[in-house]
Amino acid sequence: MTHEAIQAIFDDWAGSGRADMMEPRHQNVAEQVIAQMDMRPGMQVLDMGCGTGWATRLLGKSAPGATAVGIDCSPAMVKRAEELHDLTSRARYMVSQMEQVAFKDGRFDRVFSMEALSYAPDMNGVLQEAFRLTKVGGSSHFIIGRYKECVPSEGWSDAMGLAMAWLSEDEWRGAMQEAGFSDVHVGRVRAAEGPGEESEFTPYSTCPDWESHLTTYESGYLWLKGQRS
Ligand SMILES: C[S@@+](CC[C@H](N)C(=O)[O-])C[C@H]1O[C@@H](n2cnc3c(N)ncnc32)[C@H](O)[C@@H]1O
Repeated sequence: MTHEAIQAIFDDWAGSGRADMMEPRHQNVAEQVIAQMDMRPGMQVLDMGCGTGWATRLLGKSAPGATAVGIDCSPAMVKRAEELHDLTSRARYMVSQMEQVAFKDGRFDRVFSMEALSYAPDMNGVLQEAFRLTKVGGSSHFIIGRYKECVPSEGWSDAMGLAMAWLSEDEWRGAMQEAGFSDVHVGRVRAAEGPGEESEFTPYSTCPDWESHLTTYESGYLWLKGQRS
């Protein structure tokens, strides 16, 4: 998939209100990961594929004096992030491809990304760019919903009409190591609110029935963590 095609799809999500549905779906998992990122006063964080910027804003207030920059290739997403911005967070947003970010080497103490890496036309290029931008001694954190061990997620690409990466946990670990990261950790994170009740379940594009919803919930999100040493 090209950047132009991805931009067009996510510009549409931003304009139709679909983008605003990602925050409630992803927020708790992102909060659990951010709580384990060892954020310290004054740290600089990059949020790759920030969408409406809700996680960028969480990162921008995750430690005293911390600042966060969110990047996204969709101008409509960045516009939406600016509309939703609140002054309690030291966050800002920029239009940029994740594969090529206009910041110098080692600019960020932490790199974070929620459910964006799988959509990138060149996911190895994104991992290399994240490694380049991470300060020596810093770490990068990618959260991924679609992976081979989460069997129902195989159908997401077709359901959303989007090309997405399809890797196993071991393949993601290898991709992180290939990009240069050390001490690579691959964990699973489940949303604390649970899967909900079957009687209240409403099918949605990527989970057309309760069983696939439950398996997806129980599998959890992958959390890829790598150090730059
Ligand atoms: C599923 S959304 C997730 C957005 C946000 N992180 C969240 O959790 O709400 C994926 C986002 O990644 C962005 N994206 C995908 N590929 C990209 C790339 N190569 N460069 C920059 N942004 C990209 C899309 O425009 C979209 O906003």
